[in-house]
Amino acid sequence: MTRIDGPVVGSIGLLQRDGEAEVGYWFGRPHWNQGYATEALRAFLDHAFTTLRPEHIVARVFPDNTASITVLKKCGFTPAGVKEVDLPKGGGMRRFQMFLLGR
Ligand SMILES: CC(C)(COP(=O)(O)OP(=O)(O)OC[C@H]1O[C@@H](n2cnc3c(N)ncnc32)[C@H](O)[C@@H]1OP(=O)(O)O)[C@@H](O)C(=O)NCCC(=O)NCCS
Repeated sequence: MTRIDGPVVGSIGLLQRDGEAEVGYWFGRPHWNQGYATEALRAFLDHAFTTLRPEHIVARVFPDNTASITVLKKCGFTPAGVKEVDLPKGGGMRRFQMFLLGR
């Protein structure tokens, strides 16, 4: 069970499917631009690589999501091409910038 000591400011998760580990995250708007995502993602990636030992972790970002791209680059991710994804619930085809971080 997870113990929470203070207010929740955001969340990070790892999805493992088809031999690939993909990280996703959000932080609450009142908490943006204070370094929380960068600090939390670094700690999360350390933990994920140590415990689950994936060869690499991927992330997908809308190309105009500059804040998220900044966070990923500060955590060591590098661009890994563009991927068209058919979003669920009729979201349609959307283009994502892919990022990759090796162990
Ligand atoms: C993306 C997100 C997680 C960033 O969280 P955060 O806690 O604000 O991130 P940090 O404070 O660690 O870092 C943000 C960086 O982006 C920069 N930034 C923020 N908005 C920016 C903008 N519009 N243009 C350029 N840079 C921007 C900040 O200056 C900061 O960089 P710096 O530390 O070098 O100054 C947060 O905005 C969010 O949850 N967004 C909605 C959900 C989302 O997009 N999730 C990611 C999906 S891939």
